[in-house]
Amino acid sequence: LAKAAHGMADDLLTNTLLTARCPVVFAPAMHTEMWEHPATRENVATLRRRGAIVIEPAVGRLTGVDTGKGRLPDPAAIFETCRRVLARDRATVADLAGRHVVVSAGGTREPLDPVRFLGNRSSGKQGYALAAVAAARGARVTLLAANTELPDPAGVDVVRVSTAVELREAALKAAADADAVVMAAAVADFRPAHYATGKIKKVEGREPAPVALVRNPDILAELSQRRARPGQLVVGFAAETDDVLANGRAKLARKGCDLLVVNEVGERKVFGGDTNEAVVLGADGSDTPVPHGPKEALAEVVWDLVAERLA
Ligand code: CTP
Repeated sequence: LAKAAHGMADDLLTNTLLTARCPVVFAPAMHTEMWEHPATRENVATLRRRGAIVIEPAVGRLTGVDTGKGRLPDPAAIFETCRRVLARDRATVADLAGRHVVVSAGGTREPLDPVRFLGNRSSGKQGYALAAVAAARGARVTLLAANTELPDPAGVDVVRVSTAVELREAALKAAADADAVVMAAAVADFRPAHYATGKIKKVEGREPAPVALVRNPDILAELSQRRARPGQLVVGFAAETDDVLANGRAKLARKGCDLLVVNEVGERKVFGGDTNEAVVLGADGSDTPVPHGPKEALAEVVWDLVAERLA
C-alpha cells in the first residue's frame, strides 16, 4: 500500500502497478494496529482518491493470538468484488472514489419484552446490494445493518443496529462526513411505549392488555433536514401499493430527500426476493424507471443518479 501510494517501483509487482491502466483492487491484510496507523490511513485514502478499490479487511483471528480488523477478506468476496469491477463500464468504474457513502439495510426490531419484538420482513438484500455496488465503484462504505443474516459485503464497514432509535444514532454519526446517505432499511414507525423487563405472561381467563405504541423518529426526514455537510445527498425508499407515482411524489416532498426509490408492492410482490422493480423520483422533478431485474441493477441506477448529482 505504501509503495503503491508513493509510486515506488522496486520489484516486479510494484513495477506492474505503475504500468497498469486497468482497474486495480487491493485486498490488504495486516495487524489491526498497522491498519489503523495514520500512515496506512493516508496511503489508503490516497489510493482511493486515485480510483483504486481498496477492500476493507475482515474482522477476526489474525496470524498471531490476537483478533481484530485486518484479516484477508474471504477469497470468494475478493473474487466477487473483482467480478463486479470488471462487469462495470470502464467510464464509471471508480466514479465514487474518494466518496464516503452510508447505506442502511434490513428492518428494525422494537422490543416488547426480552423475548418478543415488533418487526418486519425486510431481508436487507437491497441495502446489501447498494453497499456492495458502491464499494465496487470505489466508495468508502458504511453499512448500517438492522437484523440481517447476510454475509458482510467485502470492503464495507458494517455497523450492527437493532431498533429505530439505535439506527438513528448510528445514521447521524456516520452521516457526519458522508457524501450520500441511502436509507434502504425498513424502519418501524412506532415502538412499544413500555418495555417489560420480564417476559410478559399469559393469565388464564384474562385478555392481554393492549400494547400502547409511540412514534419513532423519522430518520430520513431528519437527515434530509440536517444535511451534515453542504451538498450531501439523501436518498429514501418507499413501498406503495397503489397510486405509486402520486404517493411517491408526496412522500418525496414530505421527507425532503433528493431521491426516492419507489417500489410497487402487492400480494404477488413479496419481500426477500432477489429482484426488484422501481421508479426513482428526483426532487428536481425527474423520474427514472428501473425495469424488473436483480437488486444489483437497481443499485447501479441509484449510484448513477447519486454520482451524477455529486459531480
Ligand atoms: N424511514 C425512516 N424513519 C422512519 C420511517 C421510515 O428513516 N421512522 C425511512 C425508510 O428508511 C425509507 C423511507 O423512510 O427510506 C420509507 O418511508 P415510509 O416508511 O414508507 O414512510 P412513511 O412516512 O412511514 O409512509 P407511510 O405513510 O406509507 O407509512
